[in-house]
Amino acid sequence: MDIGDMRRDFESEGLDRDHLDASPFRQFEHWFQDARNAGLLEPNAMSLATAGEDGQPDLRTVLLKYFDDKGFVFYTNYGSRKARELAENPKAALLFPWIALNRQVIVQGPVEKVSKAESLRYFSSRPRGSQIGAWVSEQSKVITSRGLLEQKVAEIKQRFSQGEVPLPSFWGGYRVVPERIEFWQGRPSRLHDRFEYLRQGDDWLIQRLQP
Ligand SMILES: Cc1cc2nc3c(=O)[nH]c(=O)nc-3n(C[C@H](O)[C@H](O)[C@H](O)COP(=O)(O)O)c2cc1C
Repeated sequence: MDIGDMRRDFESEGLDRDHLDASPFRQFEHWFQDARNAGLLEPNAMSLATAGEDGQPDLRTVLLKYFDDKGFVFYTNYGSRKARELAENPKAALLFPWIALNRQVIVQGPVEKVSKAESLRYFSSRPRGSQIGAWVSEQSKVITSRGLLEQKVAEIKQRFSQGEVPLPSFWGGYRVVPERIEFWQGRPSRLHDRFEYLRQGDDWLIQRLQP
């Protein structure tokens, strides 16, 4: 299969400095809304890159659950590989691949755990099946068969057959607190528009980057 010849010119409206919001969070909100309006499948799916002590970059897809001026929040298992890497090196990068809109957004910065109360609020809003799933999986550990997982589902369902499923102590959110956010808009002939926002205390420096 020859994929070297696969290319497409990006016919989209440009991005210029005058139309960028002074806040990268508002700018993200505009673009996120565009991605939703365009009917993209899971516009909140993002690649999460981490690297532990050994410096080996690692990445996987997670879902953005909410964002505001404090940062971008996702939920996961605190015993997972990503959690181990974040404990060793609490920094991450996120990438939203909105290719159908000729766009990508990259977010970089330190990562912190959200409070237990915040995790509980989100956990309580999840469907019961997902709550059970969080209890069942020792995420990223080896398991010898799917049967064992299904057996554990039955056990957990039995254990919490009455009332609400409690928040597992090993499950919760992380917030990526941006120091840098880049907005990339594809343009014809590879002359794309790129703007980065760099945190400068309470303000953001906005600058254009070469494509
Ligand atoms: C579309 C999509 C959404 C996902 N969302 C999440 C998520 O929100 N949280 C999560 O822990 N894993 C999510 N996953 C699974 C992760 O990609 C990954 O397999 C898992 O978190 C284990 O990663 P780790 O071993 O690097 O810690 C998602 C996968 C896909 C394909």
